[in-house]
Amino acid sequence: MPKVALVTGGTRGIGAAVSEALHAAGYRVAASYAGNVDAAHAFESRTGIATFRWDVADFDACQDGVKVVEEALGPVDVLVNNAGITRDRSAHKMSPQEWLAVINTNLNGAFYMCNAVLGGMRARRFGRIINMSSINGQKGQFGQANYSAAKAGLLGLTRALAQESAKYGITVNAVAPGHIDTEMLHAAPPQLVAALKAQIPMDRLGTVEEVAHSVLFLADEKAAFITGSTISINGGNYFV
Ligand SMILES: NC(=O)c1ccc[n+]([C@@H]2O[C@H](COP(=O)([O-])OP(=O)(O)OC[C@H]3O[C@@H](n4cnc5c(N)ncnc54)[C@H](OP(=O)(O)O)[C@@H]3O)[C@@H](O)[C@H]2O)c1
Repeated sequence: MPKVALVTGGTRGIGAAVSEALHAAGYRVAASYAGNVDAAHAFESRTGIATFRWDVADFDACQDGVKVVEEALGPVDVLVNNAGITRDRSAHKMSPQEWLAVINTNLNGAFYMCNAVLGGMRARRFGRIINMSSINGQKGQFGQANYSAAKAGLLGLTRALAQESAKYGITVNAVAPGHIDTEMLHAAPPQLVAALKAQIPMDRLGTVEEVAHSVLFLADEKAAFITGSTISINGGNYFV
C-alpha cells in the first residue's frame, strides 16, 4: 500500500514542491491550505493532488482536518508541518496580534497537527514527522522576533517529540531552509532580498525543489535511525 503523506501549506511555495516530490515518489498526498482557494484549485488541477482547507492555528480544525484526510486517503504515515506566515516588524513596534498570529500558525499549528496524528502513528508503530523550521530560527533575524521564536520553538518541539516517539517507530526531524526563491521571500523589500542573497556563499537563492529533496529523504522508511535532527539547507549561509 502506498504511504499517505499530509503536507500543511502544501499548495504553494515550498509546500507545493514537497507535495509534488512525495506524489512523484508514490505517496498518496494530501495538501492543506488556509484560504487561497484559487491557488489550491490551480494546484489540484495541475498536479492531481487532493487539497483540504483548514486553519492549522485552530486545534479543533486540525483534529477534524486529519479525520477528513484519513477518511479520504487512509491513515497519515508522514506529516510535514510546513504551513507558515510572516508578520515582520521590530519587536518594540510589534503588536500582540502580529506576535500571536505567527506563533499560532508556525509553532502552535505544528503542535496541533502532531497531536492529531501521533495517536494513530503510535498505534501503527510507524510515522515520519518533518517540521519546516528556518535559518532564522537558528540564528535569529532582525525584524522577525515572532518568526525566529516560532522557528526556534519548532526545533525544541522536534527534539522533545523525537524522544517521546522513538520507540514507536516514529521519527521527528526538522529542515531549516535558508533563503529560498518563493513568494514569501519576495514579499520582503527587493533591497532586503538582495542583501540576504549577498550573504549566501553560493551566491544564489535556494530552490523549493532543493528543500523538497531533503524532506523526501527524511520521509523515507530507510531514514529510520535519524531522529531529532535538523538539516540546514542554506547554501553555506549559516553553520550550526
Ligand atoms: N521562503 C523561504 O525562504 C523560507 C525559508 C525558510 C523557511 N520557510 C518556511 O517554509 C514554509 C513555507 O514557506 P513558503 O515560502 O513556501 O510560504 P508560502 O509560499 O507563503 O506558502 C505558505 C503555505 O502555507 C499555508 N498556510 C499559511 N497559513 C496557514 C494556516 N494558518 N493554516 C493552513 N495553512 C496555512 C498557505 O495557504 P494559502 O495558500 O491558503 O495561504 C500556503 O499554502 C513556511 O513555514 C516558512 O516559514 C520559508
